[in-house]
Amino acid sequence: MENNEKKRSSFSGGIGFVLAAAGSAVGLGNLWRFPYLVAQYGGGIFILVYIIAALTFGFALMTTEIAVGRKTKKSPILAYKAIHKKFGFLGYIAALVPIIILPYYCVIGGWVIKYMATYVGGAGRAAADTGYFGSFIGSSGSPLIFFAIFLAVTVFIILIGVEKGIEKISKFLMPLLLVISVIICIYVCTLPGAGAGIKYYLLPDVSKFSFMTVCAAVGQIFFSMSLAMGIMVTYGSYTKKETNLTKSVNQIEIFDTVVAFMAGFMVVPALYVFSGEAGLQQSGAGLMFETLPRVFDQMGGGMIIGTLFFVLVFFAALTSSISIMEAIVSSFMDKFKMTRLKACIITIVICILLGVPASLGNGAWSNIKLLGMDFLTFFDYLSNSVIMPIVALCTCLLIGWFVGCKVIIKEITRNGERMHRKKLYIVMIKFVAPILLVIILITSSLSQFG
Ligand code: PFF
Repeated sequence: MENNEKKRSSFSGGIGFVLAAAGSAVGLGNLWRFPYLVAQYGGGIFILVYIIAALTFGFALMTTEIAVGRKTKKSPILAYKAIHKKFGFLGYIAALVPIIILPYYCVIGGWVIKYMATYVGGAGRAAADTGYFGSFIGSSGSPLIFFAIFLAVTVFIILIGVEKGIEKISKFLMPLLLVISVIICIYVCTLPGAGAGIKYYLLPDVSKFSFMTVCAAVGQIFFSMSLAMGIMVTYGSYTKKETNLTKSVNQIEIFDTVVAFMAGFMVVPALYVFSGEAGLQQSGAGLMFETLPRVFDQMGGGMIIGTLFFVLVFFAALTSSISIMEAIVSSFMDKFKMTRLKACIITIVICILLGVPASLGNGAWSNIKLLGMDFLTFFDYLSNSVIMPIVALCTCLLIGWFVGCKVIIKEITRNGERMHRKKLYIVMIKFVAPILLVIILITSSLSQFG
């Protein structure tokens, strides 16, 4: 708590806040998760749905969460209760999300370290071989070791308290990631036959639209923008009263979406060139790890670009995993009044208990299924398609129907700022988002049980 209080006033101004929130938001969600969803859900149509949902739904939810945080100046567990005493439960459900995400986030972070090490060690060519990724994640020992390394680095940074240092470094590295991404995108455009792939990526094909596209896009917005899990409430609580929140929300959203869009541009058209539409449909969580090494392999200087790329992805993943772990640790400290060290140890134990099955589910334990899914897919489904929609739905009901949107609008405009899209905000929170979320919850359960 003391630590929270200390941090609570630590953002120097609007830009400091935007960069910190963007550091949490930009991570594996943009680089790993977004591209493979685009591939699975029909290319351009997914991007169109995602952008519309980000500008309406994502905007409304992010505005609400940041304003709730700044208004109450409390961590999520206490913040929702402070808004309305019947909604104390919401903080607890939101706090559950980072606990489910962190273990499998570290598993994928481990895959990134493996690729980074392969490239740094000069063996990047091998990573381009078909089957390289499959046999790596299918083995037992190696992915577990890399998972442990990623978790250890995250814990180490949290324990010795150098998050600030890492954030400073990543302020350099994130723009560099964008530059490298642009270079890779330009190269991909020059691949023979790239035109058709780019068309697939950019032009929406309405016939590929289904309600599952909307479910997937909204789940991705939660994950990518760190919404419906208390993170933005926490960041809001550290924000100064003078900061213009509307402007900050726009900046965070734009930055996060641009990075995701570029990540998709690097891999989706390239896979289209390599394996056609069938390849895209079959691609899954391994898309980034299978396609990019093949791009690097064909590219002049590809090994250097590949090395740099995976180092940057590692840093993007690390800034996010730090923010996920910090959220868990501070919830434990707030709720159970425990020391930082004790909270860290409990978090590590949970991470191991859930992370080991998430990793082995791709290999030795692949015959064990939860609702027909391997462990990693199940944790991803549980957080993105079940718990986060419930948190978002309750947040909308709380603000739209129990306390009124005025509470949020007043917080946003407290320094006389103009709130853009105010009408849209009210309609979204009161009507559109709750209805959409109920339909999403029904659809995602039907798709599993139906
Ligand atoms: N938004 C991050 C990403 O896109 O990778 C993931 C994330 C960060 C999830 C922080 C959860 C969290 F608490």
